[in-house]
Amino acid sequence: MFKYIKTATWFLLRPRYLPQIFQVFKRNKYKKKENTKHNATKWAKDNAIDKLTTIKEICGNDAQLIHFKTEFTEFYNYALKQQKNCPVNMGGEGAVDMLYSITKYKKPKNIIETGVAYGWSSLAILLGIKDIENAYLISNDMPYIKMNNDDYVGCVVPGNLKSRWELQRLPDIVGIPKALKKFDYRIDLCHYDSDKSYTGRMFAYPLLWNALVPGGIFISDDIQDNIAFKEFSEKVNRQPFIFEHKSKYVGILVK
Ligand SMILES: C[S@@+](CC[C@H](N)C(=O)[O-])C[C@H]1O[C@@H](n2cnc3c(N)ncnc32)[C@H](O)[C@@H]1O
Repeated sequence: MFKYIKTATWFLLRPRYLPQIFQVFKRNKYKKKENTKHNATKWAKDNAIDKLTTIKEICGNDAQLIHFKTEFTEFYNYALKQQKNCPVNMGGEGAVDMLYSITKYKKPKNIIETGVAYGWSSLAILLGIKDIENAYLISNDMPYIKMNNDDYVGCVVPGNLKSRWELQRLPDIVGIPKALKKFDYRIDLCHYDSDKSYTGRMFAYPLLWNALVPGGIFISDDIQDNIAFKEFSEKVNRQPFIFEHKSKYVGILVK
């Protein structure tokens, strides 16, 4: 009972996140699909290729996986320090070298990412577009419920990279449509790393995909969690590029 009161209080103090409750209720409808981790993991494992092959398939044969941590030591050290000084643990970062490399090679202009936490993926993308004229990143994030990490979301992104960045603090159900509208429903790259449920993905994937320009890049983290990414890649009839990252799997589709 106390748990429910705490959750209700968290939402009442942050009404902008209330629409997420509808998404959580909707998970009951897809109960069976929510519990497909075993099949999804096997499929991802069976279809995974290494990171270098992935980057070459997507960005061309000359492409390499660039380690942004060594290219931008100062930014990296700043980010590490920020993370260390953060009083709440917001979990690990996604495949940031891959994100940086794809951004660097493909030079996308309109970019949306979902899920920020410390902001490592935002940092990688912002460094990748640093010298690309008119490139802009909109990140959408709703903080972890009851963790009180609101003030620290995106804390590894330094002030001098923020002119090309907007951090929307909304649940995906509201934030993704809003971000797409800001880009006039034309995006070049998206990185999905927020609501990992089947329900959340099946809401967000089609919206993001429909706004992607031909040749645009669709990246989703943790595709082993459930069968959503597999089903979606079949639905849009694209061959997925899958690689392993920290014992999890990332999937990429090219439109
Ligand atoms: C795995 S972390 C993101 C990590 C980040 N992309 C990186 O690589 O550094 C997931 C983030 O998504 C947020 N999130 C989870 N569900 C969400 C939702 N429905 N709408 C918006 N953000 C959500 C979490 O609070 C958390 O901040």
